[in-house]
Amino acid sequence: MQFFLDTANLDEIREVKELGLLDGVTTNPTLMARAGGDWREQAALICEMVDGPVSLEVIATTHEEMIKEAKDLVSFGDNVVVKLPMIAEGLKALNELTKRGIKTNVTLVFSPVQALLAAKLGATYVSPFVGRLDALGQSGMESVDQMRTMFDNYGYATKILVASVRHPVHVLETGLIGADVITLPYSTIMQLMKHPLTDSGLASFLADWEAFQNEK
Ligand code: E4P
Repeated sequence: MQFFLDTANLDEIREVKELGLLDGVTTNPTLMARAGGDWREQAALICEMVDGPVSLEVIATTHEEMIKEAKDLVSFGDNVVVKLPMIAEGLKALNELTKRGIKTNVTLVFSPVQALLAAKLGATYVSPFVGRLDALGQSGMESVDQMRTMFDNYGYATKILVASVRHPVHVLETGLIGADVITLPYSTIMQLMKHPLTDSGLASFLADWEAFQNEK
């Protein structure tokens, strides 16, 4: 399972990279706006810092403009993946960018049949938003499981990139289903290593060792 970090924050990227857990980064207009500053400088710094794929999202809503933006976005680095929304114009742009060999990530996907369209058109990644589906009382991970079954049935190469992640159970379910990638908020990736029994166990080991040393 690949871990992407869902952020445009350079400090978060640096920290997770130092842990050795950074396989890539995903951004979106909201995350870029939250990071602030000049977005072009931010994008260039992220692409330089990250050894793996970096998803940068188009803003345009016509396929002609999306393709123009895509050509600009890929200039930030060889690791750029162009993010396209799951709308008709996004699919037209996807079709064209696939033919040009530009890596793509189809985003704002909420159903298995949307994901099927992206796979048929050769998307590199498809991003189902599981947290937003869960918030509506639907099972985001059930949709991911159905995507996995369909992609395997037809041998589609498109990678399932689980997005809109809210907690460690999404990571567990991603692993059980066999989705290819999960993009995690910094808080969630840092939560994965924590368990209260680990903390109490370590405290107990150290206390016993301290007591043993003091006996001498
Ligand atoms: C991927 O980068 C998606 O844009 C992101 O995971 C969406 O997460 P959100 O539902 O918390 O906005």
